[in-house]
Amino acid sequence: MINHTDSLSSEAISELQGTCSVVGDKSISHRSLMLSSIAEGTTRISGILQSTDVHSTLNAMRDLGVRISIVEDDVVEVIGVGMHGLKEPVRPLDLGNAGTGVRLLMGLVAGHNITATFTGDESLSSRPMRRITEPLSQMGIQVNYNGNGLLPVTVTGRSSPLPIRYNSPVASAQMKSAVLLAGLNARGVTSVIEPTKSRDHTERMLQHFGVEVNTQTNLDGSYIASVTGGVTLQANDIIVPRDPSSAAFLIVAGLITKNSQLLLPTIGMSPERIGLITTLREMGGRIEISNQREVGGEQVADIKVSSSQLKGIVIPSDRAPSMIDEYPILCIAAAMATGPSLMENIGELRHKEADRIAIMAKGLRLAGVTVDETETSMRVYGANTEKGDAYIKGGFNISSEHDHRIAMSFLTLGFVSGDRIIVDGVSTIETSFPGFVELMNKHGARISPINLA
Ligand code: S3P
Repeated sequence: MINHTDSLSSEAISELQGTCSVVGDKSISHRSLMLSSIAEGTTRISGILQSTDVHSTLNAMRDLGVRISIVEDDVVEVIGVGMHGLKEPVRPLDLGNAGTGVRLLMGLVAGHNITATFTGDESLSSRPMRRITEPLSQMGIQVNYNGNGLLPVTVTGRSSPLPIRYNSPVASAQMKSAVLLAGLNARGVTSVIEPTKSRDHTERMLQHFGVEVNTQTNLDGSYIASVTGGVTLQANDIIVPRDPSSAAFLIVAGLITKNSQLLLPTIGMSPERIGLITTLREMGGRIEISNQREVGGEQVADIKVSSSQLKGIVIPSDRAPSMIDEYPILCIAAAMATGPSLMENIGELRHKEADRIAIMAKGLRLAGVTVDETETSMRVYGANTEKGDAYIKGGFNISSEHDHRIAMSFLTLGFVSGDRIIVDGVSTIETSFPGFVELMNKHGARISPINLA
C-alpha cells in the first residue's frame, strides 16, 4: 500500500492552457452564512465555497441553533432565526484555521444574550484577537481570555450592546465587520473608521438583506461605515462570485509560465480586492478584463492572462489593503521579474495564518532569490541569469506552516524551477482552495504526491 504524506512536489512545466473554474469567494461565503442565519426567512446561497474554513463557520452556526442544509455541491439553504434568535452553544465553537470565521462570529455573538467560547487550530490560536475584543469590550461585552489575547476566548454578549464610534489603527475588514455585526443590536449608531477602506463585503451584504449602512470615503483616504441598531434582516438569495484571492495563483502562474494562456470567468472584482491585478499590470503582466457586470451586489468580470516578462516595481504602500492576501504570490511574480520589487506597509502579513514575510523570505532564499526584509516591508530581487531569463534553482523543501497561501505560492514557483520544489503541510490548501492541485494539473501543471516508501 502506498501512503501519501502531507507533502507535494511541483516540477517545471512547458505551458498552462485553458478555461479554469475558480472556487467561490471565501470572505463572501463566511458572511453569507452568518448574515442569512440572523435574517427572517430562508436564504439560498449558490456558488458557496465548500472548504474547511467555510465548514467551520457552517458548523458553528449550527451549534448556535441555525438550520442549514447542503442541497447541492455548492448550494446551501439557511433558515434564518431572526435577530436575537441565536442559541447558546453547548460546546466551544471550534473555528479551525478560519480567522474570518472566528472574528466575525465574536461580533455576532456580542449582540446576543449568550456566552460562547471560541477555539481554533494551532495557527489560529497564535493570532491576535484583541483587535476584535478591544472594541467589543468598549460596547460593554464581557471578554475572558485564558491566554494573552489569544484563543481560547469566551465572549458573553448582551442583547443590546453600547453603540460606539471606533477609530481603528489598522484597515481590517474582520475588525470592521465584527463591530458592525455587534452594532446591529445596539441602541443607537455604531461607526467604524479605518485609515484606508478595507473590503466592504459586510456592508454590501447587509444592504442586500435590507439594512441601511452609511459609508463615506474621506479626502485623506480614510473610510467610515455606520449602522443603526434595532434592524431586521430580510432573507434574500445570494450568488457568491469566484474568489479573486484564489484566482491570484492562476493569474501569476499564467504570467510566469512560458507559452501560457488562461481564461478565468466570473471572478470577483471588488475594488478593495484587486490591487494585485493593478500591480501585475504595472509590472508588465498581460491581463485582459472583459464582460464586467454586477452579480448579487458584487462586481465580477472574466480575466484572460498570457505569459509575460515582468519587471520589478515599487508597490504603492496605500494599495496594501486591497491586496493584503496576495503578497505571497506577488513575491513569486517578483522573483521572476527583472529588477527589484519593493513592498511596503505590509506589517499585517506577520499576523496572518503564519508570518508570511518570514516564510516567503525563507523559501525564496532557498530558491536562490535575494530578499531584504524589515518588520513591515520586503524587497524581492528578480532572479536573472546572464541569458536574461529568470532562474529559480529549486531542489528544496519548504513547510507551509499551516498557511494555505504559502503552500500554493511555492507550488506555483515549482512551475519555473530548475529542480522540483517540495511543499510540506499541503492539506492546509483545503481551507480556501479545495481542488487547487487537480485544477492546476488539468491545465498543465505537474504537482504530485510524495509517497512513503
Ligand atoms: C478578510 C479580511 C482580511 C484578509 C482575510 C479575510 C475578511 O483580514 O486578510 O483573509 O474576509 O474580512 P484583516 O481584516 O485582518 O485584514
